[in-house]
Amino acid sequence: MVLSLEERERRVIADTNKIRFFPYSIVRGEGAYLVAEDGRRILDLAGTWGTASLGYAHPAVVEAVTRAVGTMASASNVSTTNPEAVALAEELLAATPGTGDRRVWFGHCGSDANDALARCVVAATGRSRFVSFIGGTHGGLSGSLALSGYSAQQLNSVPSTRAGQVYVPYPDPYRPPFAGDVVKQSLDYFQYLLDTIAPPSQVAGVFLEVVMCDAGDIVPPPGFLKGLADLCRRNGILLICDEVKVGLGRTGFLHSFEIEGVVPDIISFGKAIGGGLPLSAVVGPAEILNHKLGLTITTTSGNPVSAAAGRAVLRTITGERLMDNAAARGRQIMDGLRRLSNRHPMIGDVRGRGLIIGVDLVEDRGTRRPATKACAKVVYRAAELGAALFYVGHHSNVLELTPPLTLSEAEADEGLQIIDRALEDVAAGRVSDAAVAAYAGW
Ligand SMILES: Cc1ncc(COP(=O)(O)O)c(C=O)c1O
Repeated sequence: MVLSLEERERRVIADTNKIRFFPYSIVRGEGAYLVAEDGRRILDLAGTWGTASLGYAHPAVVEAVTRAVGTMASASNVSTTNPEAVALAEELLAATPGTGDRRVWFGHCGSDANDALARCVVAATGRSRFVSFIGGTHGGLSGSLALSGYSAQQLNSVPSTRAGQVYVPYPDPYRPPFAGDVVKQSLDYFQYLLDTIAPPSQVAGVFLEVVMCDAGDIVPPPGFLKGLADLCRRNGILLICDEVKVGLGRTGFLHSFEIEGVVPDIISFGKAIGGGLPLSAVVGPAEILNHKLGLTITTTSGNPVSAAAGRAVLRTITGERLMDNAAARGRQIMDGLRRLSNRHPMIGDVRGRGLIIGVDLVEDRGTRRPATKACAKVVYRAAELGAALFYVGHHSNVLELTPPLTLSEAEADEGLQIIDRALEDVAAGRVSDAAVAAYAGW
C-alpha cells in the first residue's frame, strides 16, 4: 500500500505541531505558487502565514543561502562571530528608525524574539508588568504566549501566565469593544488602568501590533497609534512594536508604525525577515539588549545561513521597493473584494493595509453575526480551486490574505476569481460539513 504524504505525516508528526484548513501536501514552491504532491499548483495567498515575503525559491535567497551553507562560518553567533550575522545587524539598524546606541538580538522565530525582549526589558527597567492587547499574538512559547491575548491561542493551549500581565481592548472599528469614539475610549481605559491597578512604576512596556492580525486583521482607526505613543511617553512606558507579521513592507510601508510616523522604543521582527528560513530579530536600545540579566541564548542564534537569507530579503524589499508593490496589490485586492461584496452578502467587511487583508464573513450584515462554519468552507473550497488562504479572528470567521510581497497583478486577479467562486459555491451549499470536518483550523 502506497501512503500519501499526508497519511505518512499523520503517523509520525504530532498534532500539536499543526493547524490544518485543507489537505494539501506540498512538495515544492515557486514564486507565489506551491506545488502539491499530485502536481497541482496552488496560488499561496497566505505565504505560509506571511513568512514567504519574496515567495518561494526567490533567486536572491537561493543564492545567499547556497553561498552561506557552502562556507558555514560556524552555526551561530553565540560563542563565535560570523560575517553574515554582523552584516545583517548593521543593515537592520540602518533600515530601522531609532536614536542613540542600539543593538540587535537574533533568534529563530517571532516567539523567541518577544520572549527575549521581554526578559531584557524586565532586567533593564526593574519593572515586571507588561500591557498587551486583547487579541494580540506575540508567540507560542511560554513567555510570549503569556503576552498574547488571542482567544484561539489562549483557549487551545495549557494557559501560560505571567504575573502582573494586563490585557486591554484594541480599538476594533467593526466590532467595537466600547460605544462612541473607540480610539478615545480604548486609550482612556488604558490610562485608567495605569491610574489604578497597574501603576506606571510597575509597567515595563506595551506590546503592540499596528494591524492586529490573528484576532481578525483589525486595522485601528487613525490616531490610535499616535495616541498610544503619546500615552507611553507621558507615563514612561516603553512602546514595543511587534512587526513579526506586518513588518518589512507588508503594510505598504517598510515598517508598519510609519503609518502614523511613530518610532517605537523596541521592535521585534520575524516571519518575513527570513524569507522562509527560521530567523527573528529584536532592535532596541543597547542598555536594554546588552543587560547581562537579559541573557537569552539558543544555540543556533545568529546562524549564518538564516542571516544570509535575511540580508537577501532586506536588500530585495528595499532595493525593489516591494512595499510599493504591496500597497498597489493591496489596493487592487481590496477594491476587488469590495466589488465582490455587492454579490456576496456573506462579506461583512473588507479591511487591511497593503498585503495584510482581512475579509470578515457574516451570517447577517445587520447583526454582524460571524459566519464561522461558512468561513472554514470557503477556505477549504478555495484550496480545492487552487488558492491557499487561512482564516483568523476571535470567531474564526475572517479570511486572511498575506501573500508574498512579490505578488503580480495577474496573480492578484487569479486570487480574486478563486475567492469569488469559493464564496459562490459555499453560499450555494456545494461544500458539505463532512468535507471540512477533519480540517478544523483553530
Ligand atoms: C504578530 C506576531 N508576533 C509573533 C508571532 C510568533 O511568531 P512565530 O510563530 O514565528 O514564533 C506571530 C505568529 O503568528 C505573530 O503573528
